[in-house]
Amino acid sequence: MRWALVLSLFAGPLFADTGYDAWLRYPSSGVVPVVTIMGNSALLERARQELLRGFRTPKAQAIVLGGAAPNLKPDGYQLKTTAGKIVITGADDRGVLYGAFALLRKIALGESVTTLDEKSEPRVPVRWVNQWDNLDGSIERGYGGRSIFWDNGAARADLKRVRDYGRMLASLGINGTSINNVNVNPRILASDFLPEIVKIANTLRPWGVRTVLSVDFGSPQKIDGLDTFDPLDPRVIAWWKAKTDELYRAVPDLGGFIIKADSEGRVGPSAYGRTHADAANVVARALKPHGGMIFYRGFVYDNKMDWRNLKNDRARAADDNFRSLDGKFDDNVVIQIKNGPIDFQVREPISPLFGTLAKTKQAIELQITQEYMGQARHTVFLVPMWKEALDFDLRVGDRATPVKSRVNAVVGVSNVGLDDNWFGNHLSQANLYGFGRLAWNPDLSARQIAEEWTRLTFGNDPKVIQTITNIQLNSWRTYENYTGPLGLQTLTDIVGNHYGVAVEASERNGWGQWHRADSDGDNRGVGMDRTVATGTGYIGQYTPAVARIYESLATCPDDLLLFMHHVPYTYMLHSGKTVVQYLYDSHYAGADAVNQYVRDWKSLQGRVDDQRYGEVLSQLEYQAGQAEVWRDAVSNWFLRASGIPDAKGRVGNYPGRMEAESASLDGYKLIDVTPWEAASGGKAVECTSASCAATFRYSGSGGVFAIRVRYFDTNTGVSRFRALVANKVIGEWAANDRVPTRKIDGSSSALRVIEGVALQPGDEIRIEGTPDSGETAALDYIEIR
Ligand code: GCU
Repeated sequence: MRWALVLSLFAGPLFADTGYDAWLRYPSSGVVPVVTIMGNSALLERARQELLRGFRTPKAQAIVLGGAAPNLKPDGYQLKTTAGKIVITGADDRGVLYGAFALLRKIALGESVTTLDEKSEPRVPVRWVNQWDNLDGSIERGYGGRSIFWDNGAARADLKRVRDYGRMLASLGINGTSINNVNVNPRILASDFLPEIVKIANTLRPWGVRTVLSVDFGSPQKIDGLDTFDPLDPRVIAWWKAKTDELYRAVPDLGGFIIKADSEGRVGPSAYGRTHADAANVVARALKPHGGMIFYRGFVYDNKMDWRNLKNDRARAADDNFRSLDGKFDDNVVIQIKNGPIDFQVREPISPLFGTLAKTKQAIELQITQEYMGQARHTVFLVPMWKEALDFDLRVGDRATPVKSRVNAVVGVSNVGLDDNWFGNHLSQANLYGFGRLAWNPDLSARQIAEEWTRLTFGNDPKVIQTITNIQLNSWRTYENYTGPLGLQTLTDIVGNHYGVAVEASERNGWGQWHRADSDGDNRGVGMDRTVATGTGYIGQYTPAVARIYESLATCPDDLLLFMHHVPYTYMLHSGKTVVQYLYDSHYAGADAVNQYVRDWKSLQGRVDDQRYGEVLSQLEYQAGQAEVWRDAVSNWFLRASGIPDAKGRVGNYPGRMEAESASLDGYKLIDVTPWEAASGGKAVECTSASCAATFRYSGSGGVFAIRVRYFDTNTGVSRFRALVANKVIGEWAANDRVPTRKIDGSSSALRVIEGVALQPGDEIRIEGTPDSGETAALDYIEIR
């Protein structure tokens, strides 16, 4: 990232920490233990090496590794001190490796290991991550660089990063990863491609991480030219069997397959009028003799729905598609269900399918990569959200039924990449850490996980622990506050990059992420009516006890109100605010909170290594600037739609702000920004000549101020800016950020803050822009504070 480049120039080698080691940082001094292995396997050897690398104590310590611990679930382990020795036993060798990592974690957390006697076993047998990596090396919805697995249609020549990823996963007890995108390039199953898979599987295997493949349901036709992929056709049945046998000869411990069928343009059984059970079972039967599993995705919906029909509802899709098939799947089929019924939005209710399926294995699919959650440019710690999902009480049979008691597997879409710190944001690493810890033990609290991660990653300074933990624990609510509160879902460009603000992008198209905010008509208000009484009936997919809560306005929680109901802007929430006032207030609270994160983080200077300190500071400062774009965009949009002013007078009033379009312009041309809410006043100025300038006249009283310049930084070029006061240069910068847009919109809106500027009444403030390669040095406004 930009800040990585800039800061590495200044950080001395002593304090350069790229974040590569994530939470696996070990002390360098102390006595190395004597490790004895009982048995012989690559996993035990990895455990031994890890202890030699990481275990240090003041005095000599003997560790015995291996041997079976009685009565443990697969992958479980036991740590016991006997006769002065630490003995790590496991249900199997993988369990021993997990025990070794658990011991190292205890030491790093400062816990005593002198009288150990404990055992630990995972709640579910399958704890996998998915990577959405394409064979060309790009990653769908990856924000931490290119693929660690693939480059240019083959496995990377250097798989060191895969090895180190395997180690990170093993340290959390994650026992499998898929290695290619669910939107599959069918070549993954071509016979001549198999050696590429083998290389990766061999690299992951010593860490107990099984390789998993995403496969295309049309593979029999696409790879081997069959004229059908009908799951009931004997030739197709034979094809899956032969292909699977071939794979297992090369990769005997392959975990299995993931299939996305009949969804977002992927082919599926509907082509032949067959069911998802027909499709899943034909593949399952091929996998069965090898102990493999098929994870068949519940993410099936029609993305061409008629938005005018108020009964249409994408949220219904998973349950509508799978309800009648319960009990028809073979026992090595797992239906992989996203936590919410739409698509990893900032807040969604739990998918009702978890309560519906009773005779079918199910996995919960969580998203570690922050697709709708700020794409690692915003810090959002997702563990509190996942906890709510896992703990949600489905009330099956009117009995306590937390989701975590229903699932047989926990899967997280991880999408790490080649960036030094894996995710593109140091603080985002906590999401993979938290995912792994929760997958092992969903009863851990979000606070415990955040504290553990902070200590392991940034050390044991109490101020560091408290500051980072607080930022992490509040960050989801903060992000929700400025991007989509009350169940509106993330108000982003849903047909584009899923990043910047675009309130209406979800409306009037077939994708079904509608929030139905109206600005006129009898129904003026906001939210999607999903009630049984008058809406889409979605709420009726829950068990009666849950449905009752959501169906009634009196009991529906505020956080999900607009997901479940359409209400007037003046509707009074349980919190005592009207809907529209809450929307205004939450956006201001969210933006203020991120500004506070910046101040909090600054208090850690000197307590965190220089490189990570600087990189996180840049990230948080950027986030603070973006949070203000969101705040202004969403609140102005709702001001226009509702016609109801902000009771606190903030929305539409920006003291100290001067619009670029009202400056004296030299070369700059006025443009309308789309969507209008992404720019102040809906307009900006851009430069299409060699260079341009906008001059503002300061008319306030004299003093020292910050000048904040709002400009646009697209990914097409590197335009340059210069700011001058009374002809003296006060700042210069380049628009060289890595952002996901070519357009002048909410994703490219950027903020430059120049502190400590002395201004006299009548001073001229001049912003000069020099465009580059299609990036037009566009300006929105300046603000003097
Ligand atoms: C989201 C995401 C897609 C992805 C899909 C899936 O819609 O934007 O990129 O392919 O989920 O989970 O299959």
